[in-house]
Amino acid sequence: MTKTNRERTVKTLRHLDRRIFIVIVIVTLSCLVPNTPQKAQVPPAPYLDVSQPLEKRVEDLLQRMTLEEKLALVHADSKFTTAAIPRLGLPRRWLSDGPHGVREDVGPDTWQPAGRTDDFASFMPALIGLAATWNTDLATAYGKVIGEEARQRGKQIMLGPGMNIMRTPLNGRNFEYPGEDPFLSSRMVVNYIRAVQAEDVASCAKHFAANDQEFERNTINVEMDERTLREIYLRPFQAAVQEAGVRTVMSGYNKFRGQWCSENDYLLNKILKDEWGFKGLVMSDWNGTHSTRGAVLGGLDLEMGTDILPYDKFFLARAFRDGISSGEFPQSLLDDKVRRNLRQILETKVIEGRSPGALNTKDHQAAARRIAEESFVLLKNDNDALPLDAGKLKSIAVIGENAIKLQHYGGGSARIKAFYEISPLEGILRRAGDSMTISFSQGYGEKNREELADRAVRAASQADVVIYVGGLYHKPSLDAEGADRKDMKLPDQQDDVLIRIVAANPRTIVVLLGGGPMEMGPWLAKAPALLQVWYPGMEGGNALARVLFGDVNPSGKLSCTFPKRLEDSPAHAMGNYPGKDGTVRYEEGLLVGYRWFDTKNIEPLFPFGFGLSYTHFEYSDLKLVRGSKDGAFTAEFDIRNAGARDGAEIAQLYVQQLKPRLLRPTKELKGFTKVFLKAGEKQHVSIPLDRGAFAFYDPEQRRWVVEKGDFKILIGSSSRDIRLEATTRLTETTVVK
Ligand code: BGC
Repeated sequence: MTKTNRERTVKTLRHLDRRIFIVIVIVTLSCLVPNTPQKAQVPPAPYLDVSQPLEKRVEDLLQRMTLEEKLALVHADSKFTTAAIPRLGLPRRWLSDGPHGVREDVGPDTWQPAGRTDDFASFMPALIGLAATWNTDLATAYGKVIGEEARQRGKQIMLGPGMNIMRTPLNGRNFEYPGEDPFLSSRMVVNYIRAVQAEDVASCAKHFAANDQEFERNTINVEMDERTLREIYLRPFQAAVQEAGVRTVMSGYNKFRGQWCSENDYLLNKILKDEWGFKGLVMSDWNGTHSTRGAVLGGLDLEMGTDILPYDKFFLARAFRDGISSGEFPQSLLDDKVRRNLRQILETKVIEGRSPGALNTKDHQAAARRIAEESFVLLKNDNDALPLDAGKLKSIAVIGENAIKLQHYGGGSARIKAFYEISPLEGILRRAGDSMTISFSQGYGEKNREELADRAVRAASQADVVIYVGGLYHKPSLDAEGADRKDMKLPDQQDDVLIRIVAANPRTIVVLLGGGPMEMGPWLAKAPALLQVWYPGMEGGNALARVLFGDVNPSGKLSCTFPKRLEDSPAHAMGNYPGKDGTVRYEEGLLVGYRWFDTKNIEPLFPFGFGLSYTHFEYSDLKLVRGSKDGAFTAEFDIRNAGARDGAEIAQLYVQQLKPRLLRPTKELKGFTKVFLKAGEKQHVSIPLDRGAFAFYDPEQRRWVVEKGDFKILIGSSSRDIRLEATTRLTETTVVK
């Protein structure tokens, strides 16, 4: 062997020695310290082995934890985190609002922004708008944006979607929820959650349950009968748990049947966990925990909020530990809560590590725009006032503060620090600014009302067309957390301004933002077109311009009834909103939204499921094709686009039981489909129904029951525009799951 060869061999051996030494150290360490990276030869601790079944990993991890480590997982250690357990390789767990994008980071124990420069996010359309698309693929697209951005921002749990039912038009958080119908809400939140969770991020179904008003939201007690609870208010949550496998649930601030939701044995233990088989964790709303005993026994698994500092003073911290030591609480209760937390943690891949996500990509922007476009509901369009023909117009007066108001920073916990937000005015300028004169005047506002109105009226009289952009916005007592609206009227005396504007220019297109129904003044009769656009997110202005100028045909339909007057809507007609002496009784029962208007024969201003298009559709040839089991059907029919423009129609299927033993709403939504049709195109569509579509909750048997008898299947373009119907007979009375 030459000298150089020998030297090379010695070097290689030394190098090998070092490598062997390193391997020995790693192997030894990985036996001692479970979070050290594992080598193939040494079997890793079962919880580190991602190929093992989840439950095995959870049990293994649980039995390695000390009491202190377990307690650390069941309460917060800052506004939006729980503590890391470095010894076991568990990083700090970050939670974040919310439903409409990943919220900006706040300081550790304050709501004040943390002042970071890397916490921007995509600002998506509000959930009420997503529901108005009736497009479940868009709910999937929405969830994907939330999931990818949450991952990039290092969040394990996203606090949404909200799925409380719109019981009153006044709820300050209606904009965050998918509307008045449990079936439509369920279909949207299930796809949203599945898509978020497919990105290795946990979703959170909130606020469980009956958290349907902001008035006295931290104290109000809700009473309702069992059937209403099951058929209306719990449905979206049940779908979130049983169909989407949601990993976390947030309890409401309110009380239900006299017991805080965060310690409500009936809701959390009996229904959610025992009946529905929920394996994930229940967290409190922020500072919504009230006692150690209640939380421990009532089914709460994670206490969040920062009102009682230091964190050791949390109800699920020292006091819980003391209760275990004194024998007041069995250790098994803590272990159950920890297991639920560990499932979520392991399912969000903290051991193997998640791939980086992405922020505000072209795809996210495209999804935001498409969802906005499909969410807009054309409520009126006399003499084809819309779409506007940019080639024929010389001037447009854009009027209204909402044309320039940015909405991403408002509303409470759903606020977003948006990368950008295209306002309605900006969208209109971008689309048409080169070809015509576009003026802007504020029109209304909190101050100088006379002057603002005078200027707007002058601008209106000088333009070919007026685009009025008004409605609600985010501020306390309008669309915001913490308070309800006072009435259903447009704020800032917009009705007065609008009356003058439509008089000055009959070609006035009214565009309204807002998270729910609004009462329309006498101007409505004079305004040829009305478009409801909710809170359309960062691409809202572009989407609006594309719809106004006909690049896109509007295809949204209302996910809530617009009553003519507040007194027509159920909770208000019954005089049981906002409650008396701290309790609100849902005496309207099942008759929420259109279920009330239909059953009581009250004409709404715009019905549930209503929305116009720039084209029109014809329905024909309904057939009910029986499946193999009694009660399983497919409703098949044809839809034809009978106009000159491409467009989309949302066909809705309602079920009506003809001679029910117990009261049933006149009709209930049980299926829908959204079809895109070229001008003149006809499509054969089918909507499947299973036996569950005919069921009601029988409070005596405490079960879902399908009664034999005759049922009508109604196919409509809205809940009040039924185009086809057929009757079918079920031959057996059965219980359904
Ligand atoms: C809201 C929740 C939100 C939480 C954290 C509460 O005020 O009710 O929806 O997720 O704050 O911001």
